[in-house]
Amino acid sequence: MEIKKVGVVGCGLMGSGIAQVCAQSGLQTVVSEINDDLLNKGMGMIKTNLSKSVEKGKLAAQEKDAILGRLKATTNMTDFTGCDLVIEVVVENMQVKKKIFADLEKICPPHAILASNTSCLSVMDMAMATKKPDKVLGMHFFNPVPVMKLLELVQTIATSEETLKTIRAFGKSIDKTVIVAKDSPGFVVNRLLVPYLFDAMRMLESGMATREDIDQGMQLGCNHPMGPLTLADFVGLDTLYFIANAMYDDYKEPRFAPPMLLKKMVAAGRLGRKSGRGFYEYK
Ligand code: 3HC
Repeated sequence: MEIKKVGVVGCGLMGSGIAQVCAQSGLQTVVSEINDDLLNKGMGMIKTNLSKSVEKGKLAAQEKDAILGRLKATTNMTDFTGCDLVIEVVVENMQVKKKIFADLEKICPPHAILASNTSCLSVMDMAMATKKPDKVLGMHFFNPVPVMKLLELVQTIATSEETLKTIRAFGKSIDKTVIVAKDSPGFVVNRLLVPYLFDAMRMLESGMATREDIDQGMQLGCNHPMGPLTLADFVGLDTLYFIANAMYDDYKEPRFAPPMLLKKMVAAGRLGRKSGRGFYEYK
């Protein structure tokens, strides 16, 4: 099956990035939000990103208009009628996600593939909110979506090989490199990334090194684009805390248990870049 029309449920940081990449790859794209304010904010991020590319000479002005012309922004889920693929990118709340999957099944054509961008929740549980779990899988994108090359697919025990094949080809068509993981919390990337970020936090907590030295150690010693504490601020400390708890609940391994410092920072509202303060301060 060829994917010609894509839906994205949620136009936050990740949803807007996914919608942008799909429209940029020539696909008819519908993106939704729960109200006009959030929708306008998300569309604003897309327009800013595209305008920057035009200013840098990486995108022609007409091409920007063509991309925006392929994007339909809506607050009405029924606009997903006719989508071959819909990607859910809403809050990490299983009940909310299950309701969206059940609604999408009613709105979209029977052949439509339904995907979740969850970073840690069980895709199998979402699939069971539908009557076609063979057509449900995880599509885990990375922030910032227009820049990061990876697309991590999550195959449940019910996802069909045909669905996986179609979405592998789709991933390639939007210029992403695909890896496939089984449906276990954190999948490949977060299962490796989260304990690493937590070790950096524990190092800071114990006074073993300063935040700058920990970050420079990994940036300059291992050529990472960001040190672990900067990256934690970039991802969002509340997001990391949520992912870690979900992983710890399932694996019961101490390496996934959130450090006390992280717990206290989240309680204090120090959520990283988005709140203006995390391990660092942001203007
Ligand atoms: N949206 C779109 N484009 C962006 C962007 C954004 N938010 N941020 C940066 N870019 C673009 C810039 O426009 C620039 O494009 P150009 O090469 O065409 O000029 C390019 O990215 C490089 O940006 P900058 O020169 O401003 O800055 P850097 O070179 O420092 O790169 C970065 C910024 C790409 C964010 C880089 O620091 C990086 O790769 N950091 C690591 C990001 C990472 O690890 N992400 C994964 C997080 S984990 C995750 O998402 C999973 C989840 O489940 C937790």
